[in-house]
Amino acid sequence: MPENNKKILKFPKDFLWGVSTSAHQIEGGAANDWSCWERSEFRIKNLELRNENPNNYICGLACDSYNRYEEDIKLVKDLNCGAYRLGIEWARIEPEEGKWDRKEIEHYRKVLMNLKANNLKVVLTLWHWTNPIWLADKGGWANKEAVKYFSRYVEFIVNQLGDLVDYWLTLNEPMVYIANGHITGKFPPNKKSIFIARKVFNNLIRAHKTGYGVIHNKYTKAEVSITQLMNYFEPARKWCLVEAGLAKLASWIWNERFLNKIKNELDYIGLDYYFHDRIVWYPPFKKNENKKITDMGWEIYPKGIYYVLKSLAKFKKPIIVMENGLADADDKERVNFIREHLKYVYKAIGGGVSVRGYFYWSLLDNFEWAAGFDPKFGLYEVDRKTFKRTARPSAKMYAEICKNNMIKISNF
Ligand code: BGC
Repeated sequence: MPENNKKILKFPKDFLWGVSTSAHQIEGGAANDWSCWERSEFRIKNLELRNENPNNYICGLACDSYNRYEEDIKLVKDLNCGAYRLGIEWARIEPEEGKWDRKEIEHYRKVLMNLKANNLKVVLTLWHWTNPIWLADKGGWANKEAVKYFSRYVEFIVNQLGDLVDYWLTLNEPMVYIANGHITGKFPPNKKSIFIARKVFNNLIRAHKTGYGVIHNKYTKAEVSITQLMNYFEPARKWCLVEAGLAKLASWIWNERFLNKIKNELDYIGLDYYFHDRIVWYPPFKKNENKKITDMGWEIYPKGIYYVLKSLAKFKKPIIVMENGLADADDKERVNFIREHLKYVYKAIGGGVSVRGYFYWSLLDNFEWAAGFDPKFGLYEVDRKTFKRTARPSAKMYAEICKNNMIKISNF
């Protein structure tokens, strides 16, 4: 369709455009429970059994962003973004229980000051699944003391870096952590037990609530949230009451339960959206049509973001899409993926949902946890040997969107 026949969807003034990353996935050189897990005999044997090269699953230097942060921030600027979501690594800051590493805090101050100097809003994730080794040795999040340790860490960060933070995220996707660490075993601590999962669930709730209080004690106007990964669950057949019931149940357990428990300690909602699940009544209870899938095998389903945004409206809080993206090494689908999801974000805004921003996941190709280095989520490709960053064509398109605060679309 010729350009001038396309419809222009203009986003609200002050809409926040950004990109997201996390500490462990890009910094490199961390010593935490994940780096131990990646090198553990159990994990390596498992990978060898699957004929995988274990080196591909060891984070190592990741994108070397610990040293290349200035370059990364420049890339965020090149995208015309107004904000950058990044994480800090608890294990670096408190490598031994109760001992703070001043050098590391200085490092993070430099990073955040650089962001400020570049006029970028800072969205800071305090915990993105990785834990200090000493905490893991004490039983990690199954130990209720973890809440106390976490709030002490939050207090330290608030005092050291709080003046440079615009939006706080205490926890990243607690449900994904619980599911993979305690049900599927894809993540450390790989302690599969529903009882432990329950304890971790309760402790993460308490951790967010106390962290929220600590941040607000010093900064009464702080904007504090978590990120919640939400799937759009729909019955494969709408007329089938069992499938409709199961879809509702899944949505309650996975999307809503955690948020419900912390709804009084949320200044906004950080939403992560990647996929939908078509629920069937028979195992494995999910049957997607998979018309178009990403390199991770996830079905691309943009209108799901509209439904989850609508479902969040009842919380009556502003929402920021903190993650949305895809693994697409050839960059064939990315442009369309972003545009289509934004189209539905726009539609949700039009329908009265207060969406304040959109962050693409991710700035760079990075260490994709249990899936290692193969999935390529980045707007920038990263050479695994030289760490050279190269913009994919989609980076240019995203930069245009952020600059003009709009998308042009033919099918609206
Ligand atoms: C996580 C990221 C991850 C992304 C893609 C999100 O669930 O927060 O760390 O890389 O999904 O799998």
